[in-house]
Amino acid sequence: MKIETFELERLQSIWENRVDVNLTESGLHPFSLRELLDEEEVDQVLDLRLGYGWTNGEPSLRQAISGHYANTTPEEVLVTSGSAEANFLAMWTLLEPGDEIAVMLPNYMQIWGIARSLGVEARGFRLREVLAWAPDLDELRAIVSPRTRLVVVCNPNNPTGAVLSRDAMEQILEIASSVGATVYADEVYKGVELDGREGPSFRDLDPSAIVASGLSKALAHPGLRIGWLAGPADFIDAAWHRNDYTTITTSVISEHVATIILRPDRRREILDRNREMLNQNLAMLVDWTRRRPDQFHFVPPRAGGMCFLRYAANVNSTDLATRLRNEKSLLVLPGDVYGMDHYLRLGIGERGEYLKRGLELLGEAFDELQARVAG
Ligand SMILES: Cc1ncc(COP(=O)(O)O)c(C=O)c1O
Repeated sequence: MKIETFELERLQSIWENRVDVNLTESGLHPFSLRELLDEEEVDQVLDLRLGYGWTNGEPSLRQAISGHYANTTPEEVLVTSGSAEANFLAMWTLLEPGDEIAVMLPNYMQIWGIARSLGVEARGFRLREVLAWAPDLDELRAIVSPRTRLVVVCNPNNPTGAVLSRDAMEQILEIASSVGATVYADEVYKGVELDGREGPSFRDLDPSAIVASGLSKALAHPGLRIGWLAGPADFIDAAWHRNDYTTITTSVISEHVATIILRPDRRREILDRNREMLNQNLAMLVDWTRRRPDQFHFVPPRAGGMCFLRYAANVNSTDLATRLRNEKSLLVLPGDVYGMDHYLRLGIGERGEYLKRGLELLGEAFDELQARVAG
């Protein structure tokens, strides 16, 4: 099977630990176990027996996850190794060569790439910057067909941080159902809305919808590698069968810690810390771009740990990112990884000092670029 390089991930895999400042992270500054756990919880972890556990997810963890969705039982949840595995298993389970899918663009490009490697036709419908990154639903209506198996969305969106209105969610469900397709939503950034208003999950609106989520982004714990699928029981069972061929299970340590993180009070505390960090960092970025109105423009994100910045310079985004990496030891994601030149994705979920340093480097590079053009 041929695969296309997953540029967005490959670039990070190669460079993220080799630069001084890495602003490609789309999640929130992670906790250490010491910060997260109290003494009693540390003892619980030390006493865990390191067996395989439950390959579909420890029952109390599946119970905790199902509690976050309306009309979802623990049998409708599969715990996976990150939401990346959730997306992979779902596509492997649901798609056949010759199928079509309609994918919100821009998007984390994993599903796009997997689908194409499976011989599926992926068609895009766009979020429009002029609409503050709301989706063009006429375009969605135009691209679905009786062969459309899934309508794939990322909500809140990577990379724009846009959040669908309830009305848009309902229209997407209705358009999907008009051609017999299922809505598949990657909701890994849900919970860290900057205004504190967490919207519904697609699963709350329609029990046939399938969602992927996990602890890596809004909940700030990518190192645990805990994700999940929530969807109809027959789909979850079929995905579990495939999980026997991929990772078998996650880790009992991660699942135990995940159950603690998902306790309502603990989840709230983590999300509150994250929201505060994001709001402070966003204010810093807004202030910084105001001082550079001819160079940068962006629609402020409504959720998630990143901003999608449009820049005004006659330089390709991959060339620019390469220059930033080589000359400033600053890593950012070029818009090219989303097929959108003249944008950069900047992570804003790190500590303020770190972001400040990254912005200084970016500013220096732009000033030098303009001086070169002028000279
Ligand atoms: C939208 C989206 N889904 C899934 C993933 C994969 O994350 P993980 O496997 O760490 O949960 C990412 C990572 O950047 C993402 O942005």
